[in-house]
Amino acid sequence: MHWDKEFIQLLGIQYPLIQAPMFGVSTVDMAVAATQAGCLGSLALADIDADAAVQVIRATRKLTDKPFAVDLFVHRIPEVTPELVRKYGEVKAFLETFAAQHSIEVVIPELSAFKINEYHSLVDVAIEEKCKIVSFTFGNLDETSIARLKAVGCILIGTCTSVREAKILEKSGIDLICVQGIEAGGHRGSFVDEEIPQIGGFSLLSQLYDTVDVPLIYAGGLSNGRTILAAQVLGAKGFQIGSLLCASAESSLKYFEKQRLISAKEGDVILTKSFSGRYARGIKNTFTDAIDDSGYILPYPYQNKITGVLRAVAKRNEKVDFLNLWMGQSLPRFSERSTADILKELLADVERYRGYKI
Ligand SMILES: Cc1cc2nc3c(=O)[nH]c(=O)nc-3n(C[C@H](O)[C@H](O)[C@H](O)COP(=O)(O)O)c2cc1C
Repeated sequence: MHWDKEFIQLLGIQYPLIQAPMFGVSTVDMAVAATQAGCLGSLALADIDADAAVQVIRATRKLTDKPFAVDLFVHRIPEVTPELVRKYGEVKAFLETFAAQHSIEVVIPELSAFKINEYHSLVDVAIEEKCKIVSFTFGNLDETSIARLKAVGCILIGTCTSVREAKILEKSGIDLICVQGIEAGGHRGSFVDEEIPQIGGFSLLSQLYDTVDVPLIYAGGLSNGRTILAAQVLGAKGFQIGSLLCASAESSLKYFEKQRLISAKEGDVILTKSFSGRYARGIKNTFTDAIDDSGYILPYPYQNKITGVLRAVAKRNEKVDFLNLWMGQSLPRFSERSTADILKELLADVERYRGYKI
């Protein structure tokens, strides 16, 4: 047993693998399966409303008494200005024409139809529901939320994509830092600079090990025993697994979406702002090709909302070229087995390679 004892004791788990929160893909069943493998499960609450969050947390509690994390999107919501309303109209018209060209029948509502939730109501839920571990991405929690969560003994995990972001999290007293490498699937958690940091994940992890005193979790490209061992040697104590679980039995992706992930090859995986207005890594397709360079991109979360309407229709009609299929650069060997089996196999693979002589 070569894992960091303090780290696993802090989180109350047996092994330091963390099922990544993956909004739109991870499920209650996936989090429960991760806990069954002795690992940390995560519930991706993203920016859902408080009632829905309570339901998800309670459903999980019914199935496991083991610890799990709840994950929040901690982003600033841009104000609705006349300029935003004007731009929204332009993007709406562009997307309607684009959809018609591709035989996608969609009616895109006006901006005022969308309900945008900010994270404070989810902090209230985490406290009321006595959640033990709260992770977050897209920013840092405000001071009051940090103090309130800490007052009830909550362990806080912040996400960084640069040294500057890690230092901000450390200064705020965040307990653990998830270092998200640029190779990671899904949204970049970046929150300081307008342009996202370009540093590679292992370079960032190695620098952070020398720079901050907070225990580090690594996320990005962990797809087999060797990648986990490499991250451990570079200083990570926890290992967050995302893409590898996307085709698992508990993933909410449909069969045709899983098949697209499984068939992905070199060159298929890009960073794109087209779906949500924030950079995210996933599969390049007709949608990303048309939107990324078009200039018709609203700030997050408005782009996410407006394209969500089109994506919902595309999903119903199994039009995979118009969907966001997030995955990382490692092109993992996907498995449709249970999350618990995939994580157990990963742990066995780590042990297989420990002490491996080159
Ligand atoms: C489909 C998908 C959805 C994601 N959603 C979230 C999320 O809701 N919250 C979050 O903190 N990270 C999210 N991420 C990022 C993961 O937490 C993690 O950083 C990433 O998956 C690690 O890289 P990997 O995909 O190469 O394993 C998502 C990743 C994927 C693939």
